[in-house]
This record gives sequence, structure tokens and C-alpha cells, in this order.
Amino acid sequence: MKKSILITGCSSGIGYCAAHGLQARGYRVFATARRQESVDMLLAEGLESFQLDLDDSDSIRSAVEETLRRSQGQLYALFNNGAYGLPGAVEDLSREAMRAQFETNFFGWLELTNLILPIMRKQGYGRIIQNSSVLGFAAMPFRGAYNASKFAIEGLSDTLRLELRGTHIFVSLVEPGPIATRFRANAMQAMERYIDIEKSVHREKYLAVQARLNKQGPAVPFTLPPEAVLKKVIHALESPAPRARYYVTFPTYLFAYLRRILPTRALDKLLAKAGSDHQ
Ligand SMILES: NC(=O)c1ccc[n+]([C@@H]2O[C@H](COP(=O)([O-])OP(=O)(O)OC[C@H]3O[C@@H](n4cnc5c(N)ncnc54)[C@H](OP(=O)(O)O)[C@@H]3O)[C@@H](O)[C@H]2O)c1
Repeated sequence: MKKSILITGCSSGIGYCAAHGLQARGYRVFATARRQESVDMLLAEGLESFQLDLDDSDSIRSAVEETLRRSQGQLYALFNNGAYGLPGAVEDLSREAMRAQFETNFFGWLELTNLILPIMRKQGYGRIIQNSSVLGFAAMPFRGAYNASKFAIEGLSDTLRLELRGTHIFVSLVEPGPIATRFRANAMQAMERYIDIEKSVHREKYLAVQARLNKQGPAVPFTLPPEAVLKKVIHALESPAPRARYYVTFPTYLFAYLRRILPTRALDKLLAKAGSDHQ
């Protein structure tokens, strides 16, 4: 039987690339998306697809049921991928905005993982791959909501890895830096929805944020295509000893290294500069 994998957020970017790449590699891929039009597109491209909206518990539950129905109750791997960034200064984040960010990027992932884990425990093996970010361990200005959600995913994944020791279920974090996807376009929409720029003390700075998010093509140096993430996902799926963390892109390697060697004050200087250069 082919190894199967459930992926969230396959309408574009990394999820889309992983779905096609892993199917081509011989996996049975359940390429889920939150919108029906994305599901239709994926089906037309020859993928197996159905809806999974991370903001909706019923949708998560029925997607898991659908997966199990199709795969005779087995699932080799889960790739938690679907998420978005809500840019904005911390002092401009309402409780509602922060909740929305966590609904998708954190609670949805937790709920889905907790529905999949009993299946993996029963079969006695499994791989859980969490698409975190360099912003899951390095903070940058105007990324507070996203930073918090990815830091939370990192903490949760580290705990889960410890709790699953000896079970043959492995948890890996993938930590990409800049990847060319629809991420910025989607972040722009989230910002328009939740941040009242005109009322913000940071009004001027948001113009630079908007310019970066609207820029066509790579907005920052060292941007890689989604295939760079797929390569690490394949390692996490196929290595007999998958790593706890996979860095992707030069900025991730750099900030991981700097974070280990620099005192916070010195690191803050660099992160503040990198954050405002790429505002
Ligand atoms: N691009 C980067 O530079 C970068 C860097 C580090 C980490 N990442 C991480 O990579 C992952 C994929 O992002 P991407 O770069 O590929 O961006 P993307 O092209 O914007 O893809 C994000 C995917 O998540 C989906 N999604 C959003 N809300 C969802 C929900 N409620 N339920 C299910 N799916 C939902 C989107 O669906 P819709 O099309 O319906 O909105 C889309 O399919 C994310 O976890 C992101 O944090 C990206």
C-alpha cells in the first residue's frame, strides 16, 4: 500500500507544491483546501482533494473522517501547513484579530493533530510535520500576531515530541525563511481586515509594510521557491531518524546561529533592522 499523507492549505504555495511533489514521488496525497473552488482546481489537476477549513471544527472532523474512509483507517503522515500572516504592530492588534490568527495557525493545527494521533498510535507509526517559520524563533517588528502563533506552534511541537518518545511517531518542525508563494498577498488581505491603519500611531510605517506586501516577485533577498521546503518535508517523511528541526533558506540558518551566540540586546538590534528593512 502507498504511504498516505494529509496536507492542509493546498490551494497555493508550499502546500500546493508539496501535494504535487509528493504525489509524483508515489505518495497517496490527501490535498485539502478550505475553499471548494480550490478543491475543484486540485481535483482537475489529478489530486485527491476535499475541504478542510482550519477555522471550523466540523470541517476538520469531516475531513479526518473522509481521510480514514479513503485510506482504510491508516495515515502515514500529517503535514500541518495551512496558515497566514496578520501583519501589524502589537499595539494595533485587537483581541478579535489575535483570536482569528490563532484559530487558523494554532487551534486548527492542534485540533487536527489530536484527531490524527489516535490513528497513528493505533497503527504504531506516523510522521507529523509542522510548517513553522524563521519567525517561529526570531521576532520581528510588525509580525507580533504571526510570531506569537508560530512561537506557540514551536512550543507545542517540542512538547509533543517529548510526549511521543518511543512511539515511532515523529514530530518535525520545518522552518522556512522567505518562500515565493501567495503568503504576502494573503497577509495584505488580513491586514486590511483587522488593522485600522489610519488610527495607528504607526500609520507611516504601514505604508512601507503595504509596499512590501504589494511588491511583485521576491520582496527580500534569499527568497527560495516552495520546492526548497518540499525537499526538507521529504527528509522528514523518509529518514529513519527525522530531525526535530529543518531550516530552509539562508536567513533561517543565519538567525538560528545568531540567536545561539548573541546576547538578546545585540540580537534585537539585528532583528529590528532586518524587520524594518523588510517592512
Ligand atoms: N512564504 C513564506 O515566506 C513562508 C515562510 C515561513 C513559513 N511559511 C509557512 O508556510 C505555510 C504555507 O504558506 P505559504 O507560504 O505557502 O502561503 P500561501 O500561498 O498563502 O498558502 C497558505 C495556504 O493556507 C491556507 N489557509 C489559510 N487559512 C486557512 C484555513 N482557515 N484553513 C485551511 N487552510 C487555510 C490558504 O488557503 P486560501 O487560499 O483559501 O487562503 C493557502 O492554501 C504557512 O504555515 C506559513 O506560515 C511561509
